Amino acid sequence: IATSGDDEAEFPRLTIASVADLTPNEPLSFEYPLAGQSSVLVDLGAEVPGGIGDSGGIVAYSALCQHMGCDVQFVSEGGYMLCPCHQSKYDPAREGNVIQGVAQAPLPRIQLEIDGEDIVAVGVNGLIFGYRENLAPGARA
Ligand code: FES
Repeated sequence: IATSGDDEAEFPRLTIASVADLTPNEPLSFEYPLAGQSSVLVDLGAEVPGGIGDSGGIVAYSALCQHMGCDVQFVSEGGYMLCPCHQSKYDPAREGNVIQGVAQAPLPRIQLEIDGEDIVAVGVNGLIFGYRENLAPGARA
């Protein structure tokens, strides 16, 4: 059971997509671990630290900006995540670290597993913006 980042938490297993549904550099939105916690899944198409799948480049992050919680967007031309509110940029190929801007912390990483043909979310590393804990009372996604 994945409990990383929060000793008491038990993260749900959420099937996000099948591997076949994912096209490199085309992001897919989902909510995890609670409804409303927007997150983004993307196959970067080449191996990156912590990436999974055949390419080694499938990653997922919380899409709630660490500055003030706006929804960050994956920009395929640059391969980065951009916040539309104050233009913080994050690097999904490098653990979600801040490349530029006012954000002070990396985007929390959604832990993934491949289960047969499915990509499954199993946990979160880092605290999602706006929450005292990632599994604070709320409806599971
Ligand atoms: Fe994202 Fe300010 S809310 S940079």
